[in-house]
This record gives sequence, structure tokens and C-alpha cells, in this order.
Amino acid sequence: MKIAVAGTGYVGLVTGTCLAKMGQSVVCVDKDETKIIQLNLGKSPIYEPGLEAEIVKAKEAGRLRFTMDYTQTYREADVIVVGVATPENADGSANLHALYHVCGQIADAIESPTLVVVKSTVPIGTNDKLAIYFDQILGEDRKNLVEVASNPEFLSQGTALRDTLQAERIVIGTENQEAEDMLTEIYAPFGQPILKMNRRSAEMVKYASNDFLALKISFVNDIANLCEAVGADIEEVTNGMGADSRIGNRFLSPGIGYGGSCFPKDTKALHWLAEEAGYTLKTIRAAIDVNEKQRFKLIQAARKDMSQFTGKKIAVLGATFKPGTDDLREAPSIPNLQLLLGEGADVHVYDPVGLPNLEKVFGDRLHYSESVASTLQDADACFIFTEWAEIKEMDLGLFQTMREPQVYDGRNCFSIKAAEAAGMNYYSIGRARVGGVVFA
Ligand code: UDX
Repeated sequence: MKIAVAGTGYVGLVTGTCLAKMGQSVVCVDKDETKIIQLNLGKSPIYEPGLEAEIVKAKEAGRLRFTMDYTQTYREADVIVVGVATPENADGSANLHALYHVCGQIADAIESPTLVVVKSTVPIGTNDKLAIYFDQILGEDRKNLVEVASNPEFLSQGTALRDTLQAERIVIGTENQEAEDMLTEIYAPFGQPILKMNRRSAEMVKYASNDFLALKISFVNDIANLCEAVGADIEEVTNGMGADSRIGNRFLSPGIGYGGSCFPKDTKALHWLAEEAGYTLKTIRAAIDVNEKQRFKLIQAARKDMSQFTGKKIAVLGATFKPGTDDLREAPSIPNLQLLLGEGADVHVYDPVGLPNLEKVFGDRLHYSESVASTLQDADACFIFTEWAEIKEMDLGLFQTMREPQVYDGRNCFSIKAAEAAGMNYYSIGRARVGGVVFA
């Protein structure tokens, strides 16, 4: 089977590379010439562990190609996987502009029966609407050439290859036996459980899964905030909760809220879509509200300790929305950095891979440090926004090089015992404070 993949972002590039690894002949299409040039040189335009090596292997095996020529690629393909972005509109709804643009190009190009597989996260009913759209624009002579199927992805950034090659489930949403058979054949070599359903259910599985995980995180953050107020310890609490297999011990880490390209957008999109359907998703509304407040927990704690940030050297460790990625989309660090700069702080940031992207946002308003040590030197306070292994494993003695070891940790990187032993003044999420307050 000849497979084309539209879009070489996280979803498209990882999917295309994994399909090629599993033996398919894949051509990835993108309108961004710089990306295509890079990919043809065997370079990954995104930071994703292991991806570049797999791209090179699949290219060398002659199973993976990259091009801007969508007309020929779509015309020759039996299956076109669409993995373009569906970002958030100002009102929270999903923006389907890129999806329809690609589908228009597909309709212009194809001459023979083609299965269009939508991998992008799209509102419930979108695949059905696309099927109607294709029938309308293909005209009488080419009507019925396109079948549309939903095949959402569940990959996380940083572990995208593993999540695709060893997925816990593959969801296929079709209204047509032939389409279901084709997708079953494509995914057979992956050896993963395949769940077959209608297109609307498949679209909903994706939103409901992401929103459930976001809700789980907001719930834990809510409980963590209460732990601080009543003297319980969130880590002991989540250990106790997670031991119950009905709850599970994953996605129970408290912090300064979820970020990234999926949870913030997908919670808002499902909430918006429910409102349109005349239903209020109260749980998801609560998850969104808790998350928005949670992002400012560290600043709130620091404000109680420091009279002002103006002129203070603030050390920031970690900026990306989570470790293992250079992605800053919806990262909790961003509004916090804006706030600190807005109040005249002298902000020094260290992140193992995120600094080039951070510089695109903040330019010369921030100091970009080369190491944890230089960031902390003589700082008045330290904020930790991302739990990179390098930060979790750092020598806590380095905090003693600050003017005062005043540390606000949004990802609970250190144990309370270790913070005590290191003589830190330490605020973390949902746990007891360590040390005294230094600033009046
Ligand atoms: C997520 C889903 O996990 C994935 O299945 C989906 O396909 C895309 O969205 P991703 O956005 O890459 O993946 O990151 P994820 O690891 O889920 O983390 C999202 C955010 O939640 C991060 O900001 C992370 O720090 C936060 N998080 C995660 C917590 O605050 N606590 C947790 O216990 C887990």
C-alpha cells in the first residue's frame, strides 16, 4: 500500500516514520520548504528522542521520502494520513483551517479511490462533515472516490516513538468495511489491540482520554493545595491513592499545572463543543479553572516572602512544558516569566534544550544561562518550572551559592528530607515548607 502523510509536525512525522519502520512505503508532505530540506538531509525539525535515527534508517531502506509536491504524492497514494495542527481559536474551539486546506488539495489531486485517515484531533462530527465535503467538491464524475476514517493518536512528546510502536490501543473509526480492513492491515504488524468503532466514537475517545488525564492532574493539584492548608503531604496521599489499581498511580504528580499542545487545547475544545451542543461539561470546566490558577502557585508563595521582584536576580530552572521536549507551547513557565519581567526582575533561565525556543519568545529580555550553577549564582530566589532529570539530580549544595537559598519548586523535584539537609528555604506543591522565610 502506498501511504502519504500530510504534515510533518509531531503527529505526522512520528506516524510516517513508524509506518515506514513497520514496512510501509511512506511519503510525507509539508508546505514548509525548510522542513523538507532538513528532513531530506536526515535531520529532524523537532526534538524527539530517537526520531532522527529512525528517519535516517527508514530513508536508507527506501521506505520514507519527504516532498512538497502534494499533487503527485496524493494522486499516487492509496491512503492519505492527515496529521496537521488543529490549534485553538480565540473562543476555545478547534481551528480546522489546515485540515480543510489539505482536504481541498487532496480533492484536487486524486484520480483513484483513496482512503483519507484523519489523525489530527478534531471535534466530534468532523470526519462525517469531511465525508460530505469530499462528495460535494469531487463532483459527480469523481464522487465516492474518497472514504474518510478517524484514527486518533495517543503519543506523548518525549516518548512519541514508544507510544506509537508499543501503543496500548489503536482506535479505528470507520463507516465502511473496506476502510476498516485497510487500516487493520496497515496496523497488523504493530501487534497492538485494535479497537473498531464509528467515526464519532473514535473522535470522542481522543478528547475524552486527554480530558480525563487533564482532569486527573487538576484533581491532584486541587488536593495538593488542600494538603498545604491542612498539613497533609500530597506525595504520601498520592502513594496511598495510587495503590488502588482502580485509580492507578500514573498522572498523579502535582505541580504548577498541565501545559503542552494537547491538554489545554483539548479541554477547551471539548468544553466549547459541549456548550454548542447545549450541554455544560462541569468537570472539564473545573479542570480548566484549576489549571489556570495553579500556574501561579509559585509566584503567589514567593509574593508572601518577598516584598517585590523589582531588581532581584531570579533564577529559573526549566522552561519547557515538561522534560524530554523543547516545546514551550502553553508551558506554565511563560506567563510566570512574563509576570516576573513585567515587575522588573532580572531573570536568568536555564533549560537543557528549551532555550533557543525561549529566546524566540523573549529575545534579549531574559538572560540565558549555560548551566544550573551559573543561573543560581547570587540569585535572590529560584523558581523550578520543569522537572528535568538534570535538575532533579543536581547537587543541592549549589543553592548555597544564591544570596539566600530561597527555592520555589513547581514540580516537587527534591524530597523534603534532602531540602532540609541542604539547608534550603523550600516551597513545593502540596507539602510542608522547609526552612524559614528570609525576606520580609
Ligand atoms: C498528552 C497525552 O499524554 C497524549 O496521550 C496525547 O496524545 C497528547 O497529549 P503530552 O502533551 O505530550 O501528551 O504530555 P503529557 O506527558 O501528557 O503531559 C502534559 C502536561 O501534564 C505536562 O505539562 C506535564 O507536566 C503535566 N503533568 C503530567 C502533570 O502535571 N502531572 C502528571 O502527573 C502528568
